[in-house]
Amino acid sequence: MSDKLVKSAVFLASFPNVSVMHDYNLPEFAFIGRSNVGKSSLINMLCNRNQLALTSSKPGKTKQIVCFKLNQHSILVDLPGYGYAKLSKTQINQLEHLNNQYLLKRQSLYCLFILIDFRLPPQAIDLEFIRYCGEKQIPIAFIMTKCDKVTPPLRAERLSLFTDAVLRIFDTLPPLFISSSTTKEGRTDILSYIHDLSKPH
Ligand code: GTP
Ligand code: MG
Repeated sequence: MSDKLVKSAVFLASFPNVSVMHDYNLPEFAFIGRSNVGKSSLINMLCNRNQLALTSSKPGKTKQIVCFKLNQHSILVDLPGYGYAKLSKTQINQLEHLNNQYLLKRQSLYCLFILIDFRLPPQAIDLEFIRYCGEKQIPIAFIMTKCDKVTPPLRAERLSLFTDAVLRIFDTLPPLFISSSTTKEGRTDILSYIHDLSKPH
């Protein structure tokens, strides 16, 4: 299972709220985005493991804060998705509260990867969430997912629409990666980014 970039990847624990989370004393890299965008699949792809994070073709799979340790130097955090209409209003509010508590309170959060479905034009719910992260000064990077489903000409179009929308919120574009959990495109770049940020400064 080990390769040059991933020597070890282990599941640590799932937490129903932030107050009971362990303090790992390591940099944390969290993954968020619309339900079904591919957060759990991406963690598996990065770690080179099929079922480390649980995935599903049905939205709403991840409902807790799920932590994994990567290479003894960083923690990967799988967060519940947002924007899944089929949950009850109470459940939606609970998950939103869980995510917000994590994002606002967790001192060890080094980077929040916001996953964006590359197949779609910019979605209001994503832009609203990106604006919220800007207001709260949460360190973010973007990962455009499912790029195996997007042809090269469409990629350019999607990318320019998305970056234009983001530049209406931020003066400069946060780091952006393109990925596919199916073809593993983007894996080296994302892992290198995590490794670099995790290095002691
Ligand atoms: P929730 O936990 O429900 O919020 O979803 P999630 O964002 O964790 O998504 P998950 O990883 O469970 O994937 C959702 C569906 O998208 C699954 O059917 C995956 O197989 C599929 N999927 C994820 N990533 C990719 C990708 O890069 N390419 C393609 N073609 N399908 C993908
Ligand atoms: Mg998930």
